Formats: sequence, C-alpha cells, structure tokens
Amino acid sequence: MTPKRIAPSVLAADFANLQRDIEMINASEADWFHIDIMDGVFVPNISFGMPVLRDIVKHAKKTIDVHLMIVDPDRYIKTFADLGSNILTVHYEACTHLHRTLQAIKAEGMQAGVAINPHTNVSLLEDTINDIDLVCLMSVNPGFGGQSFIENTYNKVQQLKEIINRKGAKTLIEIDGGVTSKNAKQLVDAGADVLVAGSFVFKSENPTETIKDLKSIVA
Ligand code: DX5
Ligand code: ZN
Repeated sequence: MTPKRIAPSVLAADFANLQRDIEMINASEADWFHIDIMDGVFVPNISFGMPVLRDIVKHAKKTIDVHLMIVDPDRYIKTFADLGSNILTVHYEACTHLHRTLQAIKAEGMQAGVAINPHTNVSLLEDTINDIDLVCLMSVNPGFGGQSFIENTYNKVQQLKEIINRKGAKTLIEIDGGVTSKNAKQLVDAGADVLVAGSFVFKSENPTETIKDLKSIVA
C-alpha cells in the first residue's frame, strides 16, 4: 500500500505570517505543500499568483503540489515548472485537450494531476488514467476554503480506485475540501492516498499537533 500523505493547504495560512506558517509545515509531519491558484474566472475567487508562489518555494522544504483553478492552464505550464512546482494539477473541466495538457506537464519535468469537480463523474478519466499521476477529487465546489465536505465523495473514491486497479495505473487519489479528523479515516479506507487540509489545520489551536493527529489517523 502507498504511504498516506497529508498536504496542508496554504490558502488557509496567515499571509502576513507566511514564512512562519511555511516553517511550521516544514517542521511538521506534513508531506506536501498544497498550493491553490485561482483566477476569478474558473472559480469565483482569486487567491494568489506567481510572486507569492516564488517566495513560498524559497522556504518550503517539501513537495510543492500546485492546484490550478484557472481557465486555459496550458498557457502557464512552463511558468509553474520554472517556479519549482513538483506536481501540477489542472481541472478536467478547464481542458479541451486533456491528454495534450498532461503530456505538456510531464515534458516540463512535473508530475501531472487532474482535478474533478463534485459534479464530474470519475468514469470520464478512464481513457487517460494511465497518464495521470494524481487525481484530485474535489470534495467541495472549488473556490473557497472552509466549506463542508460533500458525502458522495466516498463513493467517488471507491469508483476511482476500481478504475485505477482495473487499468493497472499507479495514480494517487487526493481529496481536497472539508477534510477533518472526522472523515480522514473513512476516506483512506475508501482508497484515498493524499488528504488536503486547509482550515482544519490552520484554524486549529495547534496546527503542528493537528497535522500529527491527521497523520496518525491515516497511518
Ligand atoms: C478549494 C481549494 C482547497 C481548499 C481546502 O477550492 O482547492 O484546497 O484550500 O480548504 P479546506 O480544507 O478549508 O476545505
Ligand atoms: Zn486545492
């Protein structure tokens, strides 16, 4: 079984104390930095862009997992590679030629991820699953942190896991949105490999301990 990973979402950090929060993640049991890039078009919110990511990467000592919630992501693949992204995830709903986009991400030396919205059926990934390193299952509608987890996600994890196994793919399943210590175990039992957690980590009294707790739940 692949080791389970926790990826704190920097979107929920204190941007006026970003270096402090990055160092907290560095020193914690977290595995990845989850970075949400929103353009105000694909989603009804704008997060932060390249200059902020550049400074995050300067301090971050773990895998940089970038989640692009933007239209026409092909325009920025090289930019995000140059900034130091290790995993670049695009939205299925934003890609007319998904296969081409995946090839372009890999050609830049990154791992290729595909995120799907809650309304998008996992079966749509059947024909590309062997080319996808990571599927990010959105367990909230993308655009904002702090939303409630959509329960149907458990079914989607199971369905996706079945496709991955049947196709002999090595794809990781990441869950993004509303993850807490209450749903973490059930998600991992259903087949999830990576849990993104924003508010649950950063709004807690002791983020380092919260990450540790999540890690022990999924271990
Ligand atoms: C939502 C983002 C998530 C978000 C998760 O559009 O993709 O990564 O930061 O935040 P929480 O854990 O607060 O739902
Ligand atoms: Zn995200």
